[in-house]
Amino acid sequence: MPFSIKQHLPHSLFGRAITILIVPLVVVQLVAAYVFYDRVWETVTRRLSNAVAGEIGTVVQVMARYPDPESRYWITTVSGELNSLQFVIEDGAILTNRHPGVGTGILERLLVNALNERVRRPYHLDVWGHERDVQIDIQLSNGVLAVRVPRERLFTTNTYVFVLWMVGSSLILFAVASIFMRNQVRPIEQLAAAAEEFGKGRDVPDFKPYGATEVRRAAAAFIIMRERIRRFIAQRTEMLAGVSHDLRTPLTRMKLELAMLGDAPSVAGLKSDVADMARMVESYLAFVRGEGEEQPEPTDIGKMLDELVTAARREGNSVALDAGGDLTLPLRPHAMKRSLNNLIANALRHAAQVAITAEKRGRAVEIVIDDDGPGIPAEAREDVFKPFFRLDPSRNPQTGGVGLGLTIARDVVSGHGGSIQLDNSPLGGLRARIKLPV
Ligand SMILES: Nc1ncnc2c1ncn2[C@@H]1O[C@H](COP(=O)(O)OP(=O)(O)OP(=O)(O)O)[C@@H](O)[C@H]1O
Ligand SMILES: [Mg+2]
Repeated sequence: MPFSIKQHLPHSLFGRAITILIVPLVVVQLVAAYVFYDRVWETVTRRLSNAVAGEIGTVVQVMARYPDPESRYWITTVSGELNSLQFVIEDGAILTNRHPGVGTGILERLLVNALNERVRRPYHLDVWGHERDVQIDIQLSNGVLAVRVPRERLFTTNTYVFVLWMVGSSLILFAVASIFMRNQVRPIEQLAAAAEEFGKGRDVPDFKPYGATEVRRAAAAFIIMRERIRRFIAQRTEMLAGVSHDLRTPLTRMKLELAMLGDAPSVAGLKSDVADMARMVESYLAFVRGEGEEQPEPTDIGKMLDELVTAARREGNSVALDAGGDLTLPLRPHAMKRSLNNLIANALRHAAQVAITAEKRGRAVEIVIDDDGPGIPAEAREDVFKPFFRLDPSRNPQTGGVGLGLTIARDVVSGHGGSIQLDNSPLGGLRARIKLPV
């Protein structure tokens, strides 16, 4: 049978650490308790039972040897006082229907053994019938000797103290370990949270490493890594901006020179290529401008979509919007708006009907943009995210721009820790599904 102990272990570090600490302790204590119970407690109880049975046996024997009432009175009184027993003589009585109480408990068992060995008379045993005493009735030749033994004389109360001490010490250890472990786990949780936030493009400005050395090392490494990633992104953006900016001037010059060359067929091709390049450079610059310094702030995605849809409707497009609930999350609003706008613009460009839904699903906000256009074949759905990739290679401005729209959209959404997937739409065209972690 496939049984995995892992499934039954607690999942959190805190739970595991506590388990690792507590389980061996409890096992050790149980073993100790068992050994104590089995050995010490049984031995002590046996000796106590033997002592009481011996005392009673002595009284019974002396009474048999000196049967006159005065001696009997004397022996029961003396033994009663010295041994804290209570004797009552019922003259002429007979133990009817009274069988030796064959109890199941350890005390009954040991007491029965002791009485059988040391009293050697018929008796009746009642261990639990009285609140504080054990009742032992013994058949004598001319009556019944009723003996009351305080239960204290047969029990070691130490047992309870021992068990109490065991449980108590476990609880104290558990409490101390819990507090201590909480403090050990907190810096790890904090590091995990900081890493998660950074993955979602949000900042944790006051994150500082603390806690155990290993945790501090991981946290310090994370901070350095975070800086490196930031620097890397900044460098990428600056370089793109620089190249695009520097290409603009020669391109403008080339355009002018081409204009002066007239309308020869060979020049027409060149002209169109230069125009393309100019458009690409402009797109790059637009992309880079969006990247900039924007900081995340709480933004209502529903409202943002509403603005985009209103603008699209104003231009005469048919767009349905269904955004429900509170969809506020920390976002870089301009970048996100651009990203959503790129997707909606694509849909509007290729289709007549566009339907947008937005809702909270579990720990993410999901935005779905459906259209009834031609869609994108499954094998091209990864390629369209590449820069300048277009399904219609004619660079016809009517059916598309330069091919950066989806690239930018995915870049922005990934920067927020989210994802974009393309799929078939129930409307017949393309479905773009954006997931943003809350
Ligand atoms: N909703 C859609 N329906 C059909 N094809 C689409 C859709 N969205 C994108 N595509 C295809 O994917 C290609 C890439 O889209 P992308 O948005 O990256 O570039 P673009 O729209 O051509 O140019 P840009 O957005 O930069 O102006 C498009 O050229 C188009 O062929
Ligand atoms: Mg586009």
